[in-house]
Amino acid sequence: MRPVKVGLLGIGTVGGGTVRVLKRNAQEISRRAGRGIEVVHAAARDLGKQRIADMQGIVLTSDPFEVVNNPELDIVIELIGGDTVARELVTQAIANGKHVVTANKALIAKHGNEIFAQAQSKGVMVAFEAAVAGGIPIIKAIREGLAGNRIEWLAGIINGTTNFILTEMRDKGRDFADVLKEAQKLGYAEADPTFDVEGIDAAHKLTILAAIAFGIPLQFTKVYTEGISKLTGEDVSYAEQLGYRIKMLGIARRVAQGIELRVHPTLVPYRRLIANVDGVMNAVLVKGDAAGPTLYYGPGAGAEPTASAVVADLVDVVRMLTADPDNRVPHLAFQPDALSDLPILAMDDVETSYYLRLRAHDRPGVLANVTRILSDLNISIEAIIQKGTMDGIATVILLTHRVFEKNMNQAIKRIQELPTITGDMMRIRMEQLSAN
Ligand code: NDP
Ligand code: HSE
Repeated sequence: MRPVKVGLLGIGTVGGGTVRVLKRNAQEISRRAGRGIEVVHAAARDLGKQRIADMQGIVLTSDPFEVVNNPELDIVIELIGGDTVARELVTQAIANGKHVVTANKALIAKHGNEIFAQAQSKGVMVAFEAAVAGGIPIIKAIREGLAGNRIEWLAGIINGTTNFILTEMRDKGRDFADVLKEAQKLGYAEADPTFDVEGIDAAHKLTILAAIAFGIPLQFTKVYTEGISKLTGEDVSYAEQLGYRIKMLGIARRVAQGIELRVHPTLVPYRRLIANVDGVMNAVLVKGDAAGPTLYYGPGAGAEPTASAVVADLVDVVRMLTADPDNRVPHLAFQPDALSDLPILAMDDVETSYYLRLRAHDRPGVLANVTRILSDLNISIEAIIQKGTMDGIATVILLTHRVFEKNMNQAIKRIQELPTITGDMMRIRMEQLSAN
């Protein structure tokens, strides 16, 4: 059978990695897919730039619309990124009846609902395994492997750049800006690295994971997002002394009132496997009612790990080319007419425990005032530790039991108004992530 002809939009880190893997593993891939898969037409901005892959045999263009309008192609891979040009290109490719493979989480999280509806009406597939957790086949695991479960919650380290930064800062005491530069050089970071640092990239991925886990539409704007830029080495070190690691987590949880969707730095007990996932590695812990907790681990970014997911999608699409569109796996795991309208909870209504750090004048009665405020708001304290005094100012760490965020917000406001408290309090949420 003739090879399937594929168009490639973008030949940077992931695009270059994809060409490399497709060429190196051509035989294995063809034995799996039942046909060869060949990139024949590719687009980039600068055609003179040195590439990480051998581009021989591929027609190059600086006009990506030439690729999506090429009638010879069955599949288009979108690896440009962003949700402007990429959105137009994907929409045009689908309108032209082409199947699409993409690693673009921003595009799927923000416009996936419309893209999937358009794809369904045209009978084409849009595959996006590479959009979440790089080389880990987490979309397939949740959408297909756990299809018998009612998923209760999932929590993941789903941004390689921030995990790399936190690990290097903790283990080597390296400077934040310096490690970020290295992550950019290694091809881990987004075109705009604030997407990584401020949790936006993780929020894109969490949006996708929650949709396929709970059968809800993609709702990126409802994810609570907090980044790592305010974390200090001091808090990382105190957390360690208390038996915790700080990880940037995306958490989606089904509770009685709806769904929690949140991305923020989180203290996790260091004995949990996920607390020991370091560097650019990602991990997603999924709790299903039947399987119980399952953990998926692997590289979350980089050229070939991400290409691994892109190529797996290509193989899937090629295998399904002749299948009746109604019998394919639904894009978001659940049948499109069976999505649920469960509400997404406001952050005020989320219940979690907290690590608090404050600085107070080291005088009798100061801590009593703090604990009175907490008790008035029904916040129960698990531990209080004084970490030493400098120039009459004591650093105090408090760990609380679970409490609603709105109560904690009020407590922090009142504590900071006390004349004996100096500077801003630090608050980091804590999760036990136990199997129950
Ligand atoms: P790069 O910046 O390395 O590559 C982007 C490519 O798109 C480049 O080849 C660039 O051309 C090309 N491009 C940009 N704009 C245009 C345009 N208007 N017309 C034609 N070509 C264009 O990005 P990545 O490979 O890192 O990321 C690609 C996608 O994959 C993004 O959606 C990203 O979020 C996602 N992703 C990335 C991962 C990673 O580890 N890097 C992991 C998982 C997903 P030129 O090279 O000439 O500048
Ligand atoms: N910038 C992303 C990360 C790329 O660091 O995880 C992988 O999606």
